[in-house]
Amino acid sequence: MLITARIVCSVAALVFSTLAPLAWAQELAFTQAQADNGKALYRETCQICHGSSLANGQFGTPLRGSFFQDKWKGKSLGELLSFVYEKMPPDKLMSLTPAEYTAAVAYILSRNEIAASETAMDTNQQALAKVMLPW
Ligand code: HEC
Repeated sequence: MLITARIVCSVAALVFSTLAPLAWAQELAFTQAQADNGKALYRETCQICHGSSLANGQFGTPLRGSFFQDKWKGKSLGELLSFVYEKMPPDKLMSLTPAEYTAAVAYILSRNEIAASETAMDTNQQALAKVMLPW
């Protein structure tokens, strides 16, 4: 019994250590549910500064279109998520949960013509450090 358990454990450890790096090789992805949650959150929390179209805000920079995309060109999704996490909303820093910040970023991506998929966006900024923005 004990030996069987040990074998099962070491096989599990082996499988885990082989798969773990794959889990970190994230792609640029988010689900429609994340984008929908982000949309609701955006309306409540971000729209007042960034505007209803994400590019017509009086107090915030555009979050879609060429201005935004040029600014974030060559950067990673992790950097974008960290920025939002650490700096937004400026009047109520860190007021959202990691899942909510992730959803808000998913919504911003969806408004920059990136399609939702079956894979959810990771809430961990480090995990997204190697995921490049597509612009
Ligand atoms: C009180 C006004 C205000 C609110 C509310 C606000 N923002 Fe901002 N946001 C700004 C300003 C001002 C900047 C530009 C700051 C800078 O570039 O350092 C900015 C920049 C950004 C950027 C980077 C844009 C760029 O040009 O690089 C993102 C992304 C962003 N905000 C997302 C959000 C999200 C998501 C929310 C809601 C959770 C939010 N903001 C709420 C004022 C606001």
